[in-house]
Amino acid sequence: MSESPVTVLGLDAMGSALATAFVTGGHPTTVWNRTPGKAKPLAALGAAAAGDVAAAVTASELVVVCLLDHDSVHKTLDPVAAELADRTIVNLTNGTPAQAREMARWAAGHNIAYVDGGIMAIPSAIGTDQAFLFCSGSRPAFDAFAPALQLLGTPHFVGEDPGPAALHDIALLSGMYGMFAGAFHALALVGTERVPAAEFAPLLREFITAMAAGIPHYAHQIETGDYASGVVSNIAMQSAGFTNLLSTAESQGLSPELLAPMGPLMARQVADGHGAEDVTGIVELLKN
Ligand SMILES: NC(=O)c1ccc[n+]([C@@H]2O[C@H](COP(=O)([O-])OP(=O)(O)OC[C@H]3O[C@@H](n4cnc5c(N)ncnc54)[C@H](OP(=O)(O)O)[C@@H]3O)[C@@H](O)[C@H]2O)c1
Repeated sequence: MSESPVTVLGLDAMGSALATAFVTGGHPTTVWNRTPGKAKPLAALGAAAAGDVAAAVTASELVVVCLLDHDSVHKTLDPVAAELADRTIVNLTNGTPAQAREMARWAAGHNIAYVDGGIMAIPSAIGTDQAFLFCSGSRPAFDAFAPALQLLGTPHFVGEDPGPAALHDIALLSGMYGMFAGAFHALALVGTERVPAAEFAPLLREFITAMAAGIPHYAHQIETGDYASGVVSNIAMQSAGFTNLLSTAESQGLSPELLAPMGPLMARQVADGHGAEDVTGIVELLKN
């Protein structure tokens, strides 16, 4: 059986990786990009480069969108809303849950099936075991096109409300940027005394990986609100130690601003009488 046609809008690093996966997976693939030159390598692989957005979206029932942001998605799709009627948009552009819900309302108003998505991979990992996607929105549309999406990475359907794919995506990116903040600070800190990166980097990776093993335990604590059971590293001890992180940064001539916000939160939890509990309890201070 021949594979179904797919259209990809947006051919920067990620869109090109997605289109490549569809082409090599045997799908007749039509591509479009605002700057036309970016379609050339895909055309060489066998994709059809559409001259305009209308021609691109009418070539396939499945239209995968991978643009810069919500605004660029509207600028691209609004003029071709009529041509998109009775087709499916899978929007893999990074965005917020509110933007996903707004896009879904817009699509419903034009009789377009809508699936919002988040790609959890870098372009070179698309199509490998490491890549996965969050999808939410129209379940029938997701089911119809899941085999095609599987070519990109493992798709996880997280609800018929269009918002949760973006929520999951943003939550994972939040974890990633928190990790970046600590890792970049650590690398800069050892750099103040010229510790060779080749020696330190593997140790940093090993330690962060070992600490990440605690995430299911923290998740249980945050879900139940019980920060007092099974405590091994209480927050009073961690808060005292954290002051050394900040003062060491200062004395090494390094701004502590990537790390600093956690210090006052820990100190407040201790001052509020939670010193014997786990550090996870600081999330209570984040809630409005
Ligand atoms: N790269 C990654 O590692 C990665 C990982 C996960 C998710 N993502 C997400 O994937 C999406 C695409 O990322 P990317 O890496 O391919 O690079 P990008 O720099 O976000 O690509 C921008 C794309 O949007 C187009 N664009 C921007 N403004 C536009 C407008 N007003 N009208 C029409 N097209 C417009 C650009 O067209 P021109 O070529 O004409 O400028 C280009 O195709 C983003 O939402 C990103 O967050 C990326």
